[in-house]
Amino acid sequence: MAKPLKHVFVCVQNRPPGHPRPSCGQKNCADMADEFFWQMQQRQLFDKVQVTTTGCLGPCSEGPSVLVYPEGVMYGHVSKSDVAEIFDEHLENNRPVERLRMPKHFWG
Ligand code: FES
Repeated sequence: MAKPLKHVFVCVQNRPPGHPRPSCGQKNCADMADEFFWQMQQRQLFDKVQVTTTGCLGPCSEGPSVLVYPEGVMYGHVSKSDVAEIFDEHLENNRPVERLRMPKHFWG
């Protein structure tokens, strides 16, 4: 397997109703995560990009959260409709999507 140029971590953490912390699972992260895998399939980027679903990345109130390495760029409030832009701009052209960046006081 080739070492990926970008590794995307998509939070799919869920928490039960009444839990004191919110979770990405309560905010449609599953649909958004599925879109990452769909876009990977459509674009055939398997030798360049790896997508991994993960547990909590930290800034739950700003989720759904997505973290891209090697840059360490965290995105917040990511929805299914944002995923194609993340591929077009960041994953394929090295231009992070500024409008989705996590505020510095949550990730910086
Ligand atoms: S539950 Fe997704 S960042 Fe914490």
